[in-house]
Amino acid sequence: MARLRVVGGRPLRGTIKASGSKNAAVAAIPAALLAQGPSRLENVPAIGDVHVFVDILRELGAEIHWRGPGVLEINPNGFDSWKAPYDLVKRLRASYYLLGVLLARFGRAEVALPGGCDIGVRPIDLHLKGFRALGAEVNLEYGVVKARAGKLRGATIYLDDASVGATINIMLAASLAEGTTVIENAAREPHVVDVANYLNAMGARIHGAGTEFIRIQGVPRLVGAEHSIIPDEIEVGTYMMAAVATGGDICVENAIAKHLEAVAAKLRETGAQVETNGDWIRVKGPDRPRAANVRTLRYPGFPTDLQQPYVSVAAVADGVSVIHETIYENRFGFVSELLRMGARIKVEGRSAIVQGVEKLLGAPVRVRNDLRGGAALVVAALAAEGESEIDDLQYIERGYERLDEKLRALGAEVTRIP
Ligand code: EPU
Repeated sequence: MARLRVVGGRPLRGTIKASGSKNAAVAAIPAALLAQGPSRLENVPAIGDVHVFVDILRELGAEIHWRGPGVLEINPNGFDSWKAPYDLVKRLRASYYLLGVLLARFGRAEVALPGGCDIGVRPIDLHLKGFRALGAEVNLEYGVVKARAGKLRGATIYLDDASVGATINIMLAASLAEGTTVIENAAREPHVVDVANYLNAMGARIHGAGTEFIRIQGVPRLVGAEHSIIPDEIEVGTYMMAAVATGGDICVENAIAKHLEAVAAKLRETGAQVETNGDWIRVKGPDRPRAANVRTLRYPGFPTDLQQPYVSVAAVADGVSVIHETIYENRFGFVSELLRMGARIKVEGRSAIVQGVEKLLGAPVRVRNDLRGGAALVVAALAAEGESEIDDLQYIERGYERLDEKLRALGAEVTRIP
């Protein structure tokens, strides 16, 4: 298992480029299977979750090749299986997208309930509600979701909660359904829009992605297309947090500043300067950040995926910050590791009360099965005086491309130990 050794306590300085969005890529890759003919995806991040998904699709019979850095060609022609067993899908949350894709392609899907980060119960009832509304019969048998439909038919589906996964999964299934589907209370996250753009390039007719009403007019077939994945706003946000926690001054290129407005506003509240020109973001941290409260919300609110790295900023801030998590019931598991570095944090249910300390001290810590919790430990280790060793790096590398290289480009003293 790889580890990251970090000698912290020095401000990050320099310029890096954002990678492609993990959460858009893990939806676009299975979406390619809906087409007749090959697709070419660009700006695909070379991260653990993408490699796992590529392996899954190969097992299912698709032909996939890397054609250069970030360029993935996916040919679904040999793809003929509607079954994805637990052994294949247990390593990846996003394997739930296979349900929508297989159902649309074959009128049939058998996919084991997915794995993913340990951050809460994470049911997929809203995905299943969507498939049932489209006319599928859906049952759970021995941990496997079994769905069957003669022909999917468009319907109006109200999501009780604006789930990202359910919104995208319904878009995938409804693209090839007969008639029109309307998703009410749809998720508005940037990757919902990105996947809709890719599907539309394939010939789908999806309107309103990015708003809470999405209308999908089913089409009889989709064709392969070229698409470039949007930049990863969560990766960019993580580096922004690291800049503020270390009192640094960094610029992230190839970013979409619009996707990070809530984050920029919050970091300004801590005393940081955030400047942007649309496709780059510069963050200059204050000598010491001021405490500021955070409440996670659906997009365009403060993202739950940046709540954990933000806790590490609050851990060194001047004053007390209250951080309230509204999306997941268990996203503070990493806090026990932060305490090893001298953080003063109390977790009460879905809130963390963080009394900032002047200095964290490096320590050996371990990442749990929690990608962003791991990213939070990296941010804390960069801010902490002395050496930290972060064990089980593979959980972080599921979602951050070339983490050690990018940190070194920002002047951090980090070594990846394979
Ligand atoms: N939920 C339900 N029923 C459902 C679906 C969701 O109750 O059918 C609940 C979940 O239990 C959770 C909340 O709604 O409490 C959020 O679920 P959502 O469906 O929006 O999230 P997701 O699709 O499982 C994606 C990202 C997550 C990100 C969330 C929220 C992917 C593969 N994952 O998850 O990313 O936190 O949206 O923005 O797109 C990460 O990148 O670290 C990560 C966890």
